[in-house]
Amino acid sequence: MRILTGIQSTGTPHLGNILGAIQPLIERSRQPEIQAFAFIADLHSLTTIRDGQIRQANTRAVAAAWIACGFDTDTHFFYRQSQIPEVCELAWYLGCFAPYPMLANAHSFKEKSSRLADVSAGLFTYPVLMAADILLFDAQAVPVGKDQIQHLEITRDLAETFNRQYGPVFTIPKAEIQDHVKVIPGTDGQKMSKSYHNTINIFASEKELRKSIMSIVTDSTPLEAPKNPDTCTVFRLYSLVASPEEIATLRERYLQGGYGYGQAKSLLFEVLWEKFRPQRDRFNELLAHPDEIEKILQLGEEKARQLAQDKIRTVRACLGF
Ligand code: ADP
Ligand code: TRP
Repeated sequence: MRILTGIQSTGTPHLGNILGAIQPLIERSRQPEIQAFAFIADLHSLTTIRDGQIRQANTRAVAAAWIACGFDTDTHFFYRQSQIPEVCELAWYLGCFAPYPMLANAHSFKEKSSRLADVSAGLFTYPVLMAADILLFDAQAVPVGKDQIQHLEITRDLAETFNRQYGPVFTIPKAEIQDHVKVIPGTDGQKMSKSYHNTINIFASEKELRKSIMSIVTDSTPLEAPKNPDTCTVFRLYSLVASPEEIATLRERYLQGGYGYGQAKSLLFEVLWEKFRPQRDRFNELLAHPDEIEKILQLGEEKARQLAQDKIRTVRACLGF
């Protein structure tokens, strides 16, 4: 089975991205029947980032995160969207099948265009480019967050429209909503997200990581009083990364009282710092040697392009090009 997912190059992946998207895909890709496609949606990032150097740094950080977390780039497919020109070609073709109202009424477009001062045609056709990412490689399953459901519906719609006229050219993909994956809370208790400035960067230095953990918002229960672990962001984060015994011990301490949030934060820091040590070391080593990242990506792109070229040949033939 082919599963495919993309992450935009809009920053260094945070703990929410790692636990919510990157690690689950890596775990699944270890099953023998799975062929995984993980790519960097650097073209999509142009809808929000215009600075090329920033984009390049973000692209490297996203690539390094996938590699550092253990994605097997030899067995699977790993590439930058921008290096597969067939993606843009297919996006143009699909765009000519996309009814204007379908794109104009998409929630994500309406939401983004109401917020932004500058609304580009690229923002409008964002879902068409995403459909091209998916259909070009005949992905069967696409693991995404809830906010992407409508984009997958648009993708299916475009594939069905095309197939109705030209025969079974595209595989109809299914969205796999990551419901089983918990929503990882950020330092303010709401969903961890770049847009809320509440992220925890597991690749950061000791000082930075400690600072973000210490900034987690807690209530004002006095030190002596018992505390409710289930409503505390520090405990919720700890539960995602510590061992069952460690979690049980911390729960006890909360319930007994006489244990402060500062102490719990120190524990959380220790677990995160130790648990992600190998990933952090590899990530920093990769960033110090960008040529290594480049080499891995280029190999992946060569492999992905072969599939892309085969598919685009079929599509061109259907369309009389
Ligand atoms: P952000 O909200 O920081 O911009 P993205 O929307 O780019 O993150 O998310 C990329 C991937 O990471 C998606 O698959 C998304 O579902 C997952 N993800 C992001 N934040 C979280 C979170 N707090 N908890 C679980 N998964 C998350
Ligand atoms: N739009 C997705 C997001 O913001 C990123 C993305 C681009 C993607 N192309 C994709 C995800 C194809 C899955 C499949 O999260």
